[in-house]
Amino acid sequence: MNWTDILPSEALEEGRWKIVQAGRASVGILLRKGELFAVRNHCPHAGAEICRGRVTGRVLVADNEQITYDPDALTLRCPWHHWEFDLRDGRPVVDMPGRLQVFAVKIEAGRVWLGPPARPPGAPR
Ligand code: FES
Repeated sequence: MNWTDILPSEALEEGRWKIVQAGRASVGILLRKGELFAVRNHCPHAGAEICRGRVTGRVLVADNEQITYDPDALTLRCPWHHWEFDLRDGRPVVDMPGRLQVFAVKIEAGRVWLGPPARPPGAPR
């Protein structure tokens, strides 16, 4: 597994995207409540810079139709047409084509390291 040193960890601000260039891809890095995320800054629908969208929790509807809000089910909403993706695995929240590309990411020795894509884009679920 190849890891790339992309920036010093002190460059991250809690809850704010940091956009970096990784090869030809623009990648957003987010530190949120102690969890680190890395996603390609490209919406699979029509190419918006998706890291300009909001990160929220998610409304869940149980089989008995009870509605709850899960603040930990982190969801990234595209700023253009509001498609939503699970921030942890890139899957669309509702059944739609396309998947947000997510990367492995870690902080080590005061640096942020970007790993390979968690799944190839377009791979079946
Ligand atoms: S470009 Fe993201 S939902 Fe359309």
